[in-house]
Amino acid sequence: MSRLRTLRHLAAAVPLVVLLASCGQSGPSPSPDSAEAEEPAPDPDAPGVHRTGPDRFTAIIYSTQGVYDPDEITVPAGSEVTFRLITDDEMIHGLAIEGTDVEISTSPPEDAEATHTFDQPGEYPFVCHIYCGGGHDIMRGKVVVE
Ligand code: CUA
Repeated sequence: MSRLRTLRHLAAAVPLVVLLASCGQSGPSPSPDSAEAEEPAPDPDAPGVHRTGPDRFTAIIYSTQGVYDPDEITVPAGSEVTFRLITDDEMIHGLAIEGTDVEISTSPPEDAEATHTFDQPGEYPFVCHIYCGGGHDIMRGKVVVE
């Protein structure tokens, strides 16, 4: 009698164990490297240049009237750079980069994106090419390719 009870108990417990195991698999897996886990994850929306792969970068540029943040982007020659232009003041701003075919503008609240590969070192000035008010004429920056 006691043996039968034990078997019933086991039969009931097995599906629960399987359920728990599958739950564990679908959840976020903890990092195996605890030292790595202590580093705060970089904010992908932070202004600046983010490496996304070998020779690949995303440049996050915030735009407000008269100001790009950042207004200088530095990448190594041969880099494929995706520019993401984000409006910070609900205005339409542009980003036109000299010497490239990058010419984009935000449609708030939508960001704008374009990608260009910089093979040649040098400086590539950029400007806001959409009139956005008083600061429009001073809204400029540059890409530095080293
Ligand atoms: Cu921003 Cu013109």
